Amino acid sequence: MKVPLLDLKAQYDAIREDVIGAVIDVLEAQHFILGPKVAELEEQVARYSAAKWGIGVSSGSDALLISLMAFKVGHGDYVITTPYTFFATAGAVARLGATPVFADIDPRTYNISPDKIARAAKKIPEGRLKAIIPVHLYGQCCDMDAIMNIAREYGAAVIEDAAQAIGARDGKGRPAGSVGDTGCFSFFPSKNLGALGDGGMVVTSSDGLKERLGVLRAHGSSPKYYHKIIGGNFRLDAIQAAVLSVKLKHLDLWSEKRRENANLYNMLLAHAGVPVKTPYIEKGFRHIFNQYVIRAKDRDALMGFLREKGVGTEIYYPLPMHLQECFAYLGHKQGDFPESENAAAETLALPVYPELGSEAINYVVERIKEFYAA
Ligand SMILES: Cc1ncc(COP(=O)(O)O)c(C=O)c1O
Repeated sequence: MKVPLLDLKAQYDAIREDVIGAVIDVLEAQHFILGPKVAELEEQVARYSAAKWGIGVSSGSDALLISLMAFKVGHGDYVITTPYTFFATAGAVARLGATPVFADIDPRTYNISPDKIARAAKKIPEGRLKAIIPVHLYGQCCDMDAIMNIAREYGAAVIEDAAQAIGARDGKGRPAGSVGDTGCFSFFPSKNLGALGDGGMVVTSSDGLKERLGVLRAHGSSPKYYHKIIGGNFRLDAIQAAVLSVKLKHLDLWSEKRRENANLYNMLLAHAGVPVKTPYIEKGFRHIFNQYVIRAKDRDALMGFLREKGVGTEIYYPLPMHLQECFAYLGHKQGDFPESENAAAETLALPVYPELGSEAINYVVERIKEFYAA
């Protein structure tokens, strides 16, 4: 049996006609950049995320970058984030000349620990902490109340990296992206809501930020050809927006199927007698399982064994940010963020996509049992 990590063809086959129809609509209209299709998606995603505004952008990475730009983050500024994330989170900070300051994760959720944020904030020169970027890793929200409290104390902005978490909710039922000053989504094809290429969105409930983000997205131009600020080309395409609007209608069902798959794994692994930890879910939170990530003894050997048996897995992420070569100038060393380092050595994402059947999940768990029985 072959069980890929993700099967986008299975999703496409189920909604083929609608996707093709949406693309044809844009071809007929010949309006490719921003325009009515993007405006429609912005409204839909904002509503879905309980925010007032959506600003469609070119990627999740650019959603983070433009949010930081909106807060004028630059040289001499500091931004606290997690070392255990995709590169884009810390990369956006460094690209603007600001200093990323890392705070270690809670080893249960893999999300940034508010206690560690508070400790890191104390060491930053007064008045220079400009923003905090919590990442809702794998599709589970961070402890946003605690993070908002710290941010308020320092007058810092909160930019939620919700790239993996569209539709996730915290214990108070608040959608990912709706609590901070801005929320950043990625529509990279492997996300729960994936485009036909790159795409992203910033959501916010601030009228002022909405204006500023809209201007920054188009080279800082307002009115056209007059530039009071420097922005960039961070626009979303109409084809991506039209297809995403089609897919958004299915998103809740797809995320529910991911949750069912996760529950089945949890149950089977609990009875399998293997040295594997299943994901920890905060009480009352809605995890949308962009990734189903276990913690496993002999992780690399398990990964190799599963590959041989036709099961696709991935490590998110093998090297924490503080140990990346490009951040050597920050002066970190092995041992600085032990929880992130341990997670990087032990975590493994298993296939969890919505179309995965229970037969495939049983197959994966049986192979895990086989590995540890040997
Ligand atoms: C946590 C996180 N942040 C940011 C990004 C960047 O998004 P994109 O690939 O759309 O630029 C991603 C996804 O790749 C991500 O997983």
